[in-house]
Amino acid sequence: MRAFPSIEDLRQRARRNVPKLFFDYVEAGSYTQQTLRANCADMAGIPLRQRVLVDVDQRSTATTILGETASAPLALGPIGLGGMLYGDGEILACRAAQAAGIPYTLSTMSINSIEDVAGAVDKPFWFQLYVMRDRGFMRELVQRAQAAKCSALMLTVDLQVLGQRHCDVRNGLTVPPQINVRNVIDVITKPAWAWSILKGKRKTFGNLAGHVKGMEGVGSLAQWTASQFDPSLSWKDIEWIKSLWPGKLILKGVLDVQDARIAVKTGVIAISVSNHGGRQLDGAPSAISALPRVVDAVGADLEVLFDSGVRSGADIMRALALGARSCIVGRAYLYGLGADGQAGVARAIEILQKELDVIMALCGVKRVAEINRQVLAGYDEPSNSLPL
Ligand SMILES: Cc1cc2nc3c(=O)[nH]c(=O)nc-3n(C[C@H](O)[C@H](O)[C@H](O)COP(=O)(O)O)c2cc1C
Repeated sequence: MRAFPSIEDLRQRARRNVPKLFFDYVEAGSYTQQTLRANCADMAGIPLRQRVLVDVDQRSTATTILGETASAPLALGPIGLGGMLYGDGEILACRAAQAAGIPYTLSTMSINSIEDVAGAVDKPFWFQLYVMRDRGFMRELVQRAQAAKCSALMLTVDLQVLGQRHCDVRNGLTVPPQINVRNVIDVITKPAWAWSILKGKRKTFGNLAGHVKGMEGVGSLAQWTASQFDPSLSWKDIEWIKSLWPGKLILKGVLDVQDARIAVKTGVIAISVSNHGGRQLDGAPSAISALPRVVDAVGADLEVLFDSGVRSGADIMRALALGARSCIVGRAYLYGLGADGQAGVARAIEILQKELDVIMALCGVKRVAEINRQVLAGYDEPSNSLPL
């Protein structure tokens, strides 16, 4: 794994290992992908402030996330179909996160079920909820997360309907994968991947199979989502979810200041400023450009997490500088998973953490709590505008 010095190196290996169908699914944004591109381009456009002759011995990336200690301001985000990048992918990613001392989030749309993961790891993990029309099933799903001792519930609020990813349509992304000539060639040229999937516990959505009707052959993910997900979900339902889940509740996918203010009134512990990695509203602003306004509006009232576009330790530094308390990553760790299963995820986490540690040193900062807008070049005094 030392041979992978960067997230990009892991990405290149994942591209070679994983069938195109699933690699494309990870990479893609919705429609023209303008928001996907903006997430990374705007991030790269934020210059960091080089400081010299500051004693940066004895640094630490340690922090707290939702009141729990973490080795870095970093969590692994929820990923639907994560177990299609590597057999038992969710179990392996959770193990890597827990070994590194950071939170892991299991998606409603995972391949391993809540029970599979809970039975295979030592510590609690977070569970991400998509709200479906069948409220009886929703209640049961939340109860399963409670029985598995999940330590936080992350309600994703930016996917009541699915933004189209053109490549998934072209590639015929179905669950389980369609057997056609193109897909068969794709799969038989990826033997290590095929072997890991064959050995894995499951080949379809673990949380839904046996619980939701019509799960036997989901067919097109887009069609299935359209028929099952509840587009009537509204702020009123947060009370209902809180009545089912009295524990820590995070709203993921808030980009707008007005929505952030409403979120404060609901009493959730945290929000994640996110545009779903550019996979939902194409044309929405980059998440990093939305972050400072949301932090200014609600940062004192709840914990502001951030995701969408984090690919390096420098990106974590930028998001923290603009007020995020910690970052959630998606693709950055999926590249590690596709590259080499648990070892690859562990390597991705290590890369991000070590990069953050060096960037902190070069910006003259020793503690995560010291990171603020002063670490950005071009931002010295409050009167100066942000470089965004
Ligand atoms: C392949 C893939 C699947 C995803 N599945 C889910 C999901 O099931 N639930 C969810 O809330 N977010 C999901 N997301 C969004 C991520 O949790 C996260 O918001 C996003 O990846 C952050 O952007 P980044 O990939 O640029 O780090 C998914 C993202 C990707 C790339």
